[in-house]
Amino acid sequence: MEQKWFLDKMNIDKDSLCKLFNNLNEGIHIVDQRGNTILYNKKASEIDGLKPEEVLGKNIFEVFPSLTLETSTLMKTLKNKKSYFNHKQTIINYRGKKITTINHTLAIVFSDNSVGAVEISKDITQTEQLVDNITDLREKLQVNKKDIKVDNDIKRDNNTNYEFSDIIGQNSNFNKVVSNAMKSAQSDSSVLIYGETGTGKELFAQSIHNASRRRKNDFIAQNCAALPKDLLESLLFGTEKGSFTGARSKPGLFEMADGGTILLDEINSMDLALQAKLLRVLQDGRVRRIGGQKEKEVDVRIITTMNVHPDKAFELNDLREDLYYRLNVVHIKLPPLKNRKDDILLLTDYFIQHYNKEFNKEIIGISSDLKEIFLNYNWPGNIRELKHVIESAYNVKQLGSTLVLSDLPGYINERLSKDQKSKSDNRFPNQIIDQDQLPALDIFLEDIELKLIKKALNKTGFNISAAARKLDISRQSLQYKLKKYDIKS
Ligand SMILES: Nc1ncnc2c1ncn2[C@@H]1O[C@H](COP(=O)(O)OP(=O)(O)OP(=O)(O)O)[C@@H](O)[C@H]1O
Ligand SMILES: [Mg+2]
Repeated sequence: MEQKWFLDKMNIDKDSLCKLFNNLNEGIHIVDQRGNTILYNKKASEIDGLKPEEVLGKNIFEVFPSLTLETSTLMKTLKNKKSYFNHKQTIINYRGKKITTINHTLAIVFSDNSVGAVEISKDITQTEQLVDNITDLREKLQVNKKDIKVDNDIKRDNNTNYEFSDIIGQNSNFNKVVSNAMKSAQSDSSVLIYGETGTGKELFAQSIHNASRRRKNDFIAQNCAALPKDLLESLLFGTEKGSFTGARSKPGLFEMADGGTILLDEINSMDLALQAKLLRVLQDGRVRRIGGQKEKEVDVRIITTMNVHPDKAFELNDLREDLYYRLNVVHIKLPPLKNRKDDILLLTDYFIQHYNKEFNKEIIGISSDLKEIFLNYNWPGNIRELKHVIESAYNVKQLGSTLVLSDLPGYINERLSKDQKSKSDNRFPNQIIDQDQLPALDIFLEDIELKLIKKALNKTGFNISAAARKLDISRQSLQYKLKKYDIKS
């Protein structure tokens, strides 16, 4: 696979090359055709706990006597000229530290045509520990819940915060989406929720779980973009002792969510090989721990989310189509806030009530200027952004019971006003760019009048009374202008 780099122009001097290798976050270990080390960078020496001089020029088996031709990936690569990707390894290094790495080992050809091998190692020890901690905590939480069973608060018991009654909206399209989601709670079919960031995907997923027969069991959410492939795989499917040095037996999230629902957030960020494995689990309803022999049946409902359009994900080769069709039995598309403008003020009021309680304040609403700005703003961060804007105003607000633009922190204030300004700059399609050549005023105004009339007629489906109302002129006056400009329906 030839990259279009200008490699022949790259006569890097040796010091710069050393700097480059020593500043990499991955360990690089290169051996020649006999298995003698010719390059060993700083990170590789940190991972193995060896000084470069203890490794350079020496044979692999001399430095790592416990390795064999079967267990050393560098030697296997030299022998078979084969590449190994995503090979996970846990070692106790020469300083006695337990290190987990993910390695890629590739054959490389030197200028004298001899073949050597390079191993690139990514240190994932800390992330691995984190996964262990998460699994431990999740396990403990489950045990505690079984022991205590304090009250009937299902939401607190099953790791959720929301149900359908927490979903606010009156926009008719949005309400159709809500009622379809409610219907889907009656079945066990897979659900795919698609929507921009902050549109309420998690809120919907939790609400579906809490309205379903599974509500007494767990809702477990996992973001697929947050972890590298191998760790996500062990977290989802669990690991059985002995699959690699130092591994513990632990259940995966599928086993832990048995009887409940699993939410796989940003499914399009999941590695394609793992997507294939997930598809098999969906087809068979059985999981096998990594390194394990036995398969276990699990009864888990799957909800997935995406914040890019499925077509785009296919185009980028981020999503397997066969998996998509399996996941997309129920499709929920959440509209961005800018497409449900009639909900902006309703949500604003809702968040004001919410933060009044939290901040112990008595705000009654927002000023009419701020309403105008809220209604015209694009809300790229959707409902989460609106919620945060209001929350930040509560932190700033000192006097008065109405939120005004200056109550919003500087950066938000700027962003909202800038957006508003660029909208009003664009309000008139005919901008006078060249100040020296002004058009005749009456021609310019007629041109704008004509454009506005056409717009109003288009928007109202040529309903003259409605268009006149939109333009705030009388019906007779509009009819006169239609004649003047010779506009016919
Ligand atoms: N219709 C709604 N009514 C009330 N609150 C809402 C609504 N939609 C979203 N929210 C609130 O907005 C915030 C973001 O929602 P959520 O986390 O579900 O979004 P998301 O689509 O999962 O975002 P991301 O893609 O960034 O993960 C939450 O605090 C949620 O409570
Ligand atoms: Mg989310």
